[in-house]
Amino acid sequence: MCGIIGYCGHRPAVPVILEGLRRLEYRGYDSAGVAFLQQGALHVVRAEGKLANLERRLGEQNVFLATSGIGHTRWATHGLPVEKNAHPHTDAARRLAVIHNGIIENFQEIKNGLQACGCVFASDTDTEVLAHLLASFMDQGLGIEKALSRTLDRVEGTYALVVVCLDEPGVLYAARKSSPLVLGVGVGENFLASDIPAFLPYTRDVVFLEDGEMVRIDAASWRVMDAATLAPVDKDVRRITWDVAAAQKGGYKHFMLKEIFEQPKVIADCMAGRVDVAAGRAILPELAALPRPERLFIVACGTSFHAGLWGMYVLERWAGVPTRVEIASEFRYRDPILLPGDVVVAISQSGETADTLAGVRLARERGAKVIGLCNVVGSSLARESDVVFYTQAGPEISVASTKAMCSQLTALTLLAVHLGEVGGRMSRQDRMDCLHGLCRLPGILEAELPGMRERACLLAKAHSEATSFLYLGRGPYYPLALEGALKLKEISYIHAEGYAAGEMKHGPIALIDPRFPTFALAPVDELFPKVKSNLEEVQARGGRIIALTNPGGDLRVDDVWEVPRSFGPLSAFLMLPALQLFAYEMADYLGKDVDQPRNLAKSVTVE
Ligand code: F6R
Repeated sequence: MCGIIGYCGHRPAVPVILEGLRRLEYRGYDSAGVAFLQQGALHVVRAEGKLANLERRLGEQNVFLATSGIGHTRWATHGLPVEKNAHPHTDAARRLAVIHNGIIENFQEIKNGLQACGCVFASDTDTEVLAHLLASFMDQGLGIEKALSRTLDRVEGTYALVVVCLDEPGVLYAARKSSPLVLGVGVGENFLASDIPAFLPYTRDVVFLEDGEMVRIDAASWRVMDAATLAPVDKDVRRITWDVAAAQKGGYKHFMLKEIFEQPKVIADCMAGRVDVAAGRAILPELAALPRPERLFIVACGTSFHAGLWGMYVLERWAGVPTRVEIASEFRYRDPILLPGDVVVAISQSGETADTLAGVRLARERGAKVIGLCNVVGSSLARESDVVFYTQAGPEISVASTKAMCSQLTALTLLAVHLGEVGGRMSRQDRMDCLHGLCRLPGILEAELPGMRERACLLAKAHSEATSFLYLGRGPYYPLALEGALKLKEISYIHAEGYAAGEMKHGPIALIDPRFPTFALAPVDELFPKVKSNLEEVQARGGRIIALTNPGGDLRVDDVWEVPRSFGPLSAFLMLPALQLFAYEMADYLGKDVDQPRNLAKSVTVE
C-alpha cells in the first residue's frame, strides 16, 4: 500500500529511486512522484498513472546531478488518483517535501487549523498536512529533527514517511508508526524504503525500524532516535539471506507465473530443518515457549484467510485442537471471547496487514498468546507476536498471492503434526506418512507444473467468454474453492463465487445455465461421492463443468483435469497451483495486467 524510497549516496539519486519504485510498484500504482534537491532548489516531479508516465516526464529533464532524494508510488486513500494528489507533497514555500504511506486520521482537524492561519493546500490528501505542519514548526525556529518530532506528536494515525529539506541538503529524515519502513545500509550510501527489494541491488544489510522511531540518514551515516525524546536508539544491522534474483522475474513473463513455479522450492524451504520423517516429528522450537493450546483462533485476510480455513481442517483432524478461523476485519470488532489457554494464529504474507495486526493487538490485550505466521522477516507481525513462524517463501512481488499460500499450508501442516504429537492425537505412523507425503510434494509438483500450465492455458481459452464462474469444494477443498474464485476475479475481473459444494442447492443452483460454468474441486477422497452428486445436479441444469480431480475418480464432466493424489488433505498442494494457473492464463489471455490488477495493492496497511 504505497511504496516509498529515499536515497542518500554517491550515485545519481533519481535513477536509483526510479529503479526502487519499479520494485515497489506492486504496493500501489495509481500515481508516482519524486523530489530531490538540485542546484539549490527543491524539484518535485509527479505523474498520474503508472510509473512509466513519471519516467517519461523525468526523461524530459536533467535529473542527474542530485545524489539524494525521495520517491513514492501511490495507492489512493484520500483524494482521487490524479497528479495533484500524487506524492511528494510540499509546504507553501517549497522548503521541504514529504512522502507518506499510511493514513493521518486527524488530518481534517489539523488542516482546518492551518487553513485558519492562511495556509493554502494544493491537494486533497491527508499527507499534505504533514508538509505544512512540519514547515510551520520550522518557521518557529525549530530544526528539522525537533520540528518533525513535534509534528509526529500532533498527528494520529499510521505513517511511514520520509522528508527532504533545503535546510539540510544530502540528508533525509524518516519516521514510522504502524506502516513498514526499513533502512538499507550501504557503503557510502544509505536507503529508506517500504520494503527490502527496493534497494536489494545495492545492499543486503538492513535495519528494521520500530514504531515511534525516527531516523536521519546521509551518504556516510545513519542514526536512529526515539521520535518523542530524540534520544539515540541502538539498532542491529541484519543481513538478509535472499538476493536480487529472488526479487526479479527471472525470464518469466510475469512475477505471478514465476511465483507459481517457485512453489516446489517454497515447500522445501519452509520444511528445511523442521522435519524428521523417521521420527514422525515436526521440529518447531519456536513453539517450545507455548503450552499446548486449548483452542486456536486463526485470524487473517484474503488468501491468508483461505490458508487458515484449510488449516482448520488439518488442525482439528490431526491435532484435535478446536479451531476457529476469522476474517481479521471482523474479529477485531467482534468483541471475541478469549479464554486462558486460547492461542491466536495470525497469518499474513506481508506481516503488515492492518486488520490482522489489529486482531493481534486485541488478542494480546485479552491475554491470548499469538503465533505470527508470516513471510516478511522483521515485519510488524513478526515483532508483535509472542512466537514467530517464518514461512520462508521469499519475496512475493505479484499482487495476487500464490506461493505465500503454499508456504502457509506447509507451515500449518507442520503445526498440525507438531500439535498432533504433543497432544497424543496423531499416531507416529500417521505423522510419518504425512511428513513423508509433504517431503515428496516438491518433486511431484516440479514435474507436474509444466503440464498443468498447458492444461490451464487450453481451459482458459475455452472458457474465456464466461462472465461468471462458480467454484465448488467440500471439506479442506472448500477453502480452495474460495481461493480459486478470488484469484480469478482479482486478476481477470471475471465474477466468481466460491461455495461449499453442499450449500449449492440452497441458492446458487438457481444461477446455473450453459453460460455459467462451474469449476469443481473433486479429489478422490471420502467426500468424493458427495461432490460427484453435486456435480450431477449442476449437469442436470445444463451447466458446464471443469473438475479438478485425482486419477481413478471416474467423473463424467466436460473437462476432467487430473492431478496426482497425496496424503489426505495434502492433495490441496497439487490442486492449488492448478487454480492459480487457470486464473493466470485467463487473465493473460484476456490481456489484463496480471501483476498489478486494478484497484489492488500488495500489503493492505489501511483498514
Ligand atoms: C489475494 C491477496 C490478498 C492478501 C491479503 C492479505 O491474492 O493477495 O487477498 O492475501 O491482502 O495479505 P497478507 O497475507 O499480506 O496479510
